[in-house]
This record gives sequence, structure tokens and C-alpha cells, in this order.
Amino acid sequence: MNIFRTIKEYKDWRNGLTDKTTIGFVPTMGFLHQGHISLVSASLKENDETVVSIFVNPTQFNNPEDLVKYPRNEARDLAMLEKAGATAVFIPTVEEMYPEPVTRTFTFTGIDDVMEGAKRPGHFNGVAMVVSALFSIVGPNISYFGMKDYQQLLIIRKLAENDFPLINIKGMPIVREDDGLAMSSRNSRLSEEEREMAPLIYEVLKRSKQLIQEFQPDEVCRHCERMLAGSGMIEPEYFIIADAQTLQPLQKKEDAKHAMAFVAAWLGKVRLIDNFELF
Ligand code: PAJ
Repeated sequence: MNIFRTIKEYKDWRNGLTDKTTIGFVPTMGFLHQGHISLVSASLKENDETVVSIFVNPTQFNNPEDLVKYPRNEARDLAMLEKAGATAVFIPTVEEMYPEPVTRTFTFTGIDDVMEGAKRPGHFNGVAMVVSALFSIVGPNISYFGMKDYQQLLIIRKLAENDFPLINIKGMPIVREDDGLAMSSRNSRLSEEEREMAPLIYEVLKRSKQLIQEFQPDEVCRHCERMLAGSGMIEPEYFIIADAQTLQPLQKKEDAKHAMAFVAAWLGKVRLIDNFELF
């Protein structure tokens, strides 16, 4: 497995590949788990080379404490990627990625104004900034993203459509723990008690799919928020049922065949997100 820490090292390797070599790319912020590895495995099946980036991107953290506390373990990540069969890893420093401040502002026709976009100002601008830089450096044919960050996936699709039309963006299913909790690097920051309570998020998402058969979206969302808060340990930030393409809140239960439920919730100082298809 090749490990590159500078853009130059990466590009030298990339330039040595034949024109026919296909590159699959999996951008990550490290502290890898099976969710990330599922993206690597998908890429390995479909490409000659699989490049994974590990970069905790400061520009997408709206909460400074979240950035400082973001878990990191490079040695473990590299061992996991080696075992998974990744062919190259790009691990730049902040200085390498941002030699000077980037000022570009991205807009994404409304899909960035709701949910995570509304609650985490600047977050998606930071994501678009780094993914756009990574796409330019890595030069992939296909790039893989998890549906765990569903809104991010839609935004990256838009970014590719606008700026990188030759890159194919693939969305992959959410990988969950046995008890239903969506895998996330942030799960490692949960206390034992919080970890035990966390699968309730998935239970409530599944429940919303039953409830939407009978009740209007707004009623379902309020009920689901109450179920989460009722745990005494989970503080919902939002529970939203929205159209799967536009991400606009659903007005009528009859439209649920195109909708998904989205949740963001705090367990102590850890913020988790998850989502579920209602069709
Ligand atoms: P990170 O949170 O490390 O996630 C990297 C990729 O793994 C994303 O596409 C994410 O959706 C996917 N992923 C995370 N948990 C998953 C799970 N349980 N099942 C399936 N896929 C999962 O998302 C980011 O990093 C960053 O915003 C990034 C795109 C790298 C830009 O900095």
C-alpha cells in the first residue's frame, strides 16, 4: 500500500499510471470503521486502484471542541486499510491542503439550507471546499460516499455535476452495529451508558416508518422527538421527514413514498446523525 503525505508524491505516482487505469476514491476523516471499509470494498471491486484520503478537515467543523476532540489513530487506520486491500492512502497535513486561506463560497440550490446546513453554519461549504480540492488532486473515475451522511451525498452529487462532470458519485448503504446504531467515528466518544441508549435513535427512525402510514409528517416528527427525549439521555436537535431529493419537509403523509426521516441528536457532548428511508 502506497502512503503519500504530499500532493507532489501523490501526483508523481498518479502520473506513472497508464491512461486506462481506473481510480476509485474514498475520502474520509479517519478513525475508520466498517462503514468506511464498506466504501473501500466497493471501490476495490470496480476499479484498478483504490485511493483513500485521511484528513480531518478543519474548515467543516463549526464547533471548535468537536474538531479538537475528533478521534484520530493513524496507525490503526493504516493497518485497517492495508488489510482491506486499499492501494494508496493520501494523508496530507492542514498546511499541505490549505497553503493559504480558501475563500470560495459554494451554494447548492436549497439542499444545503436545511437540516445539517441550517444547524451547522459553514459546514457544507467546508465539505465542498475540501472534496473539491481532493477531487482535483486525486483525479478519480468513481468516488464513494455513505448514505449515513445523506445530505452530504446529495451536495457532493451537485458539486460533481457542476465542477467534476466526469467523476461518477456512488452512494453506499449505511453500515450499522448489531444493535442498529449507525457506525460513526464519533461513537467512540460516547460513555458506556450513552452507548447503551444510542440504538434508540434507530428504533425511533424505524417507528417513524410505521407512524407515517397513519399520521401526518409533523405529528410523527414531534412524537419521535418526544420518544428520544423521553430516554432522559438523548436530546434531539431535529427529527425531520423530508423529500429524498429536494430535502424539503414533507407536508402530507401521502407523499411518504419519496421521503426519508432524518435525525440529529446529542448524547452528552456528542452529536450523532442518522436517517432512514420511508419507502
Ligand atoms: P467521515 O465522517 O470520515 O466519512 C467518510 C465517508 O464514510 C463518508 O462518505 C460517510 O458518509 C461514510 N460513512 C461514515 N459512516 C458510515 C456508515 N456507518 N455506513 C456507511 N458509510 C459511512 O464524511 C466525511 O468523513 C467528511 O465530510 C469528508 C467527506 C471526508 C470530507 O471531509
